[in-house]
Amino acid sequence: MDSLFIVANLKSNKTYDEARLWLETFKTIDKSLLEEKKIIICPSFTLLGLFKSFSSDNNLKVSLGAQNVSSLDEGAHTGEVNAKQIKDFADYVIIGHSEERKLLNESDEVLSQKVNLCLKYGLNPIYCVQDKDTFIPQGVSLVAYEPVFAIGSGNPDTPENANQVASEIKTKGEYQVLYGGSVTNENVGSFISQSNLSGVLVGGASLEAQELIKIIQNA
Ligand code: PGA
Repeated sequence: MDSLFIVANLKSNKTYDEARLWLETFKTIDKSLLEEKKIIICPSFTLLGLFKSFSSDNNLKVSLGAQNVSSLDEGAHTGEVNAKQIKDFADYVIIGHSEERKLLNESDEVLSQKVNLCLKYGLNPIYCVQDKDTFIPQGVSLVAYEPVFAIGSGNPDTPENANQVASEIKTKGEYQVLYGGSVTNENVGSFISQSNLSGVLVGGASLEAQELIKIIQNA
């Protein structure tokens, strides 16, 4: 059976001390849940080292992801964090999130370069699409359908429509599709029971570790 994915996107939140507190709460999770489900936590770059050492010291079976990656390889690119550097800490990278697309106005070509660099260094892209027609670069296998109206709005897509969009995305390639946008512990079950969805991407609700634990329990 394919794994059920739960991706926690912490966005641009948490200082080092706040992240430590989050982790202290998260580590109280029933560890068997982490065996059954694939949990991927995506904190800011500045926190990846903390998440990596804390999860290994506390035997927390979670994977880590970055929230973005440079479209350039290592070199003289001040301010950029490249895929080779991320691979020291993480196995996944969120690419093409709509909040980034809006801020950076990235083209499909730039997003494809990011995917290529991830693949070069053994990172798995979690490629965000906003609708069924969003371009998906070669080499992507994990797609997150995140309609813009649903992100951070408390107004999720319906599970039935998310399932329909996922089925259309799957006609274009061998993808596992996640749903993201206002997922909570109350609605997570209705999304993961859809036949074309392989999990969820959780933003705001993951900021409280206890809420993320509940989402994992209910998924
Ligand atoms: P949200 O964010 O759960 O806060 O709606 C989802 C996302 O942006 O990935």
